[in-house]
Amino acid sequence: MSTALSDFGLIGLAVMGQNLVLNVESRGFRVSVYNRTPAVTEDFVAAHPGKRLHGAATLEGFVQSLARPRKIQIMVKAGAAVDAVITQLLPLLERDDIVIDGGNSLYTDTERRDAELAAHGLRFIGAGVSGGEEGARKGPSIMPGGPASTWDVMRPIFESIAAQVDGEPCVMHIGPGGAGHYVKMIHNGIEYGDMQLICEAYSIFRAAGMSAAEIAEVFLRWNDGDLQSYLIEITGRALQQIDAETGQPVVDLILDKAGQKGTGQWTLMNAAENAVVISTINAAVEARVLSSQKSERVVASRLLQGPEPALLGAYRPQLVKQVHDALYASKIISYTQGLALMRTMSEKKGWALDLGGIASIWRGGCIIRARFLGRITEAYRADQGLQNLMLAPFFNEVLARSQQGWREVVALAVTQGLPVPAFSASLAYYDSYRSERLPANLLQAQRDFFGAHTYERIDRPAGQWFHTAWPEVID
Ligand code: 6PG
Repeated sequence: MSTALSDFGLIGLAVMGQNLVLNVESRGFRVSVYNRTPAVTEDFVAAHPGKRLHGAATLEGFVQSLARPRKIQIMVKAGAAVDAVITQLLPLLERDDIVIDGGNSLYTDTERRDAELAAHGLRFIGAGVSGGEEGARKGPSIMPGGPASTWDVMRPIFESIAAQVDGEPCVMHIGPGGAGHYVKMIHNGIEYGDMQLICEAYSIFRAAGMSAAEIAEVFLRWNDGDLQSYLIEITGRALQQIDAETGQPVVDLILDKAGQKGTGQWTLMNAAENAVVISTINAAVEARVLSSQKSERVVASRLLQGPEPALLGAYRPQLVKQVHDALYASKIISYTQGLALMRTMSEKKGWALDLGGIASIWRGGCIIRARFLGRITEAYRADQGLQNLMLAPFFNEVLARSQQGWREVVALAVTQGLPVPAFSASLAYYDSYRSERLPANLLQAQRDFFGAHTYERIDRPAGQWFHTAWPEVID
């Protein structure tokens, strides 16, 4: 065994962990690895001969094999497993060592762990890592949170392993405490929104009688235009995949029950706590929930009446362009909402999030990587205080020119009984936000009627509150 100390250590050799180790090692760093099951560590090191890897059989040996300050990344399942590893590590570490949690941890857990480690004189980074298996190996997008001084120590490693776009690494210091994991959570919420919007486009094309191969062609063509993104590309490729056994498209054989691990739901909970509207992401999470109730839906499909969405074929010539516009516009709304939530939390927590910078590090490596993220960066560079993304000239113009197709797609789907919850939630957000007057005057009257909650008047200065002596209702 070599006595050279390692530059970096990683605990948890599941797929993401293994690929990250290989990525870090390939950038010239020596890496120590540890897994709870020693055989996993041994097999992993044996499978990569000639690499600068040190497999440790014990946690003690792992810690001792690292140069100080130690840099230890934990890649285990979010939740109790992270706490368990930290508890085991604590007595073995020394002042200023750095522990990085690279899993999808809830940001409030990260804040708690940050405080716990700080009390022991240790440094903690909660880093969102996106990109799946391939991203971990070739270059993920990394969203590290924690003290800026700790970021400075980690920067060379993070910058060398992250994806690169236009010569810029897809990593930056996000902010203190739980900011990194928080931004990763929003990334995932937006990922849910993007995926659902794509599924709604697919659903309309299916109703128009298009085959998986025909729909694939549309998505792959869109991938050359303003919708270019990893998710559009993999959708096109997934639709082309043929099942070897049956000769049918694999997608046509997959049960329509969506799974989820919870980051989308966390995003909804956070939005509700902060009174920020994220209706597109909300619709996306709820669409997964409803899809998972397959057996109930099968029964209801026989009992509940509605139009049979069978005639969309007649609309097919215009549909591709209209659905493109509906998807593009709704995607802008989804990002608008995610950014609004980050802005609110940034102000509340004093994180000083750089929204343009965040969009920029999402351009590569991560699941939501897309051409149009560069436009978001430009919008925030032009106006740091941008209140709402839709108001930036570029997005305002896209929404203006997309809305006819967007409205027609939503109207068509509604009349045909075809669910498009994320398209329609996005359009309702757009129309609500641009309404000078909403029916909330009546709502205020109702509140004042039953609860004397008072209201402001349009003909009096804001901040003056009125109550009406409403008539008594006799049941
Ligand atoms: C990423 C992804 C990833 C996420 C999976 C599964 O950025 O690499 O967001 O972190 O865990 O996509 O998420 P669901 O199981 O909830 O769909």
